[in-house]
Amino acid sequence: MTEASRKILVTSALPYANGPLHLGHMLEQVQTDIWVRFQRSRGNHCLYICADDAHGTAIMLSAEKAGITPEEQIEQVKAAHLKDSTGFLVHFDNYHSTHSEENRRWSETIYKRIEQQGHIAVREITQSYDQEKGLFLADRFIKGTCPKCKTPDQYGDNCEACGATYSPVDLIDPISALSGTTPVDRESDHLFFRLGDFEELLRGWTRSGSLQPAVANKLNEWIEAGLQDWDISRDAPYFGFEIPGHPGKYFYVWLDAPIGYIASTEDYCARSGEDFDSYWIREDETELYHFIGKDIVNFHGLFWPAMLHTAGLRMPNAVYAHGFLTVDGTKMSKSRGTFIMASTYLEHLDPEYLRYYFAAKLSSGVDDIDLNLNDFVQRVNSDLVGKVVNIASRCAGFLRKKFDNRMASECSEQALLDEFISAGDDIAALYETRDFGRAMREIIALADRANQYIDDKKPWVLAKEEGREQEVQDVCSTGINLFRVLITYLKPVLPEMAARAEQFLQIDVDWHSLKSPLIDHQLEVFKPLLQRVDPEHVDAMVSASKA
Ligand code: 2FM
Ligand code: ZN
Repeated sequence: MTEASRKILVTSALPYANGPLHLGHMLEQVQTDIWVRFQRSRGNHCLYICADDAHGTAIMLSAEKAGITPEEQIEQVKAAHLKDSTGFLVHFDNYHSTHSEENRRWSETIYKRIEQQGHIAVREITQSYDQEKGLFLADRFIKGTCPKCKTPDQYGDNCEACGATYSPVDLIDPISALSGTTPVDRESDHLFFRLGDFEELLRGWTRSGSLQPAVANKLNEWIEAGLQDWDISRDAPYFGFEIPGHPGKYFYVWLDAPIGYIASTEDYCARSGEDFDSYWIREDETELYHFIGKDIVNFHGLFWPAMLHTAGLRMPNAVYAHGFLTVDGTKMSKSRGTFIMASTYLEHLDPEYLRYYFAAKLSSGVDDIDLNLNDFVQRVNSDLVGKVVNIASRCAGFLRKKFDNRMASECSEQALLDEFISAGDDIAALYETRDFGRAMREIIALADRANQYIDDKKPWVLAKEEGREQEVQDVCSTGINLFRVLITYLKPVLPEMAARAEQFLQIDVDWHSLKSPLIDHQLEVFKPLLQRVDPEHVDAMVSASKA
């Protein structure tokens, strides 16, 4: 390794504890997991930290509906989330909950520092109140007739029929979606984080060059439009943490959610003995990256850096946003069976198919990613089974039959092998910048070359000719050495297939040992490394997803 090893902390967004994970969540977790595995394969010390986002009115209400306490609900949901993530081979170093003592302490500490430095304003606001439920109503809990097109039964902030956005006070005949009663206006004091105080800091951060251009532009737009105060308090009853010094007021879920990254790291450090301060206090020792969806860039790109800065904590090196997941070209839909839960996918298909497909589609940008189900089947079968695995399976047969699974005692195609190895620099650079799609294309282009080499040499012809045994062993050994390079490059995406390949190769594949080819080396008997995707299983998954 040339550069000294880096210390990196990586997070993905904390899923809400009020429902199961779907393939949109998995896009993000798989993207993050691939990046983390890549960093480790390069010898860097890289932690992947996550948690459930456990607070808020929605969770309180869904627990009530299920007849359990919010604590019981978040416990159950967390177990289900972890099962799904693990099923997709997403490996967290720690998975915590925002409803934890660590998070309460950090939320209080950070809030107090913000308040002490004068960045909190208190203002009375008027909101809709459900007298029957005894609750202030967030916009999405109010329904009524659209003031613009007059379609009934629309939510308080936007109309699904005409797309108008408005404030709930504009709705005609508003009712509470919770009780069906007419809400009344009620005043209450709220606490606001004065984001405008951080304009200079945020301008510098958007100019730092480490943000994606689309994200930096969006943040700049908001800054130019004038940074608004952010309402960080909610009235009781609310499932969350009470704000110190303000009885009956609770932190808005989005205040303590990102603090969950810190709390989960602290929990990890307490158990592993690692030094917490090196992750969240001292900026120069560790790199910090947040992987998120483009819909939550405001929280991570504006409020979060301002909060960290005021609290005397380190700033992130970057926030990496990805686009939304569409299925067959449109928004995931329950009626079409394309709103696919992670667990439903796992009942029907191998997680590595989707990890590869996502990798093949991901870039460093914020474009939406389409899971086209026909293309998915075709791509996985053609690239992975037809090209990559094929290299090993066509060579392994000859080595088993004629050479007792022993590879040749010298490398007959050093130049070809060197080309494969030197492509690793480009591929690594693409992984680093999250251009996974381009990395996959380079890897598959190498697989094409390896297959072409075997086609040209025709070991099946050589094997029938007298006195050409050594050539057969040489060609097939070269094929296996090329395959080993490709598996090394694919391992962050396909950890289990790589493990099966390692079993066959009888080595641990690893970027830094590529320079030593397998020579006079004993292989294990070859077993199939990946089944073809069966389109019937895809159909079954879609049927099972239909509402
Ligand atoms: O959008 C969401 O699903 C949120 N639960 C993400 C929170 S990310 C972090 F800030 F906690
Ligand atoms: Zn309308």
